[in-house]
Amino acid sequence: MTAPPPPPAAVPTAHGVVAGYGRRRVLDGVDLVPEPGRLTCLVGPNGSGKSTLLQTLGRVVPTRGGRVVLDGRDIADWPGPQVARRVALLTQDPQGPGGLRVRELVEQGRHPWVGAFGALRRHDDEAMADAMTAAGVDHLADRRLDELSGGERQRAWIALALAQDTPTLLLDEPTTFLDVAHQLELLRLVRRRCDERGTTVVVVLHDLNQAARFADRVVALHRGAVVADGTPEQVLTPGLLREVFHVEAVVVPDPVTGRPMFVPTGDRRDDA
Ligand SMILES: Nc1ncnc2c1ncn2[C@@H]1O[C@H](COP(=O)(O)OP(=O)(O)O)[C@@H](O)[C@H]1O
Ligand SMILES: [Mg+2]
Repeated sequence: MTAPPPPPAAVPTAHGVVAGYGRRRVLDGVDLVPEPGRLTCLVGPNGSGKSTLLQTLGRVVPTRGGRVVLDGRDIADWPGPQVARRVALLTQDPQGPGGLRVRELVEQGRHPWVGAFGALRRHDDEAMADAMTAAGVDHLADRRLDELSGGERQRAWIALALAQDTPTLLLDEPTTFLDVAHQLELLRLVRRRCDERGTTVVVVLHDLNQAARFADRVVALHRGAVVADGTPEQVLTPGLLREVFHVEAVVVPDPVTGRPMFVPTGDRRDDA
């Protein structure tokens, strides 16, 4: 007898999503169905709606039209802890009380899972230790957040998202404050979560060469709409760079991975 297939991974999916702030409409009918167990990278210029889209998938920003669906139900209909057991969202500029220590921050990732008496169990301790090791913040466990460098603090927040131990991880520019070694370490870690644990990842990255190198799929947003969606080779073309980012570039194969790699040749706006 063969074992039954595992239940489908709980992945939030966007269908014709409209969202905005006040009178401003930011997303204008966006579809995004992340592939389970794969790494999807969202790219787009500043203000194109990447963070807003990620936050609708994590139920932080409500939809005004269309739907975000999680496990067959509208995400708005799920109880909060049930969403938090399925989806971890690391926002672009997370804020926490400065006096908080790293261990206390990471512990918050276990809150959706704690038992009826609110006590952390051994499994929670293991998940926290695992997340702190993966994010490289073991040695910072007892330090206060406001005593850390920008990169150290960012890794503490990443540990929080990992400790939540969800089938889906949504990461908004997680590499911004990291030096290049830590950027690569983080992207490799995220890649391993997909490959080894089947975690579904949607990550916003500004570095298109890193997106090309680590993503299975790239989705480009421009003015609140998806303008390209496919493999790095299909999406990251000189035409897209010109139209969406206003940059002239040549694309050559990355000498290490063979994926597309950009070399900017000039700035169209300067030429205009
Ligand atoms: N909390 C907010 N209140 C009002 N406007 C916002 C808010 N967050 C984002 N915006 C606006 O929505 C647009 C899209 O923002 P965002 O989704 O953050 O884009 P991106 O992440 O691609 O840079 C921007 O014009 C931004 O000014
Ligand atoms: Mg953003």
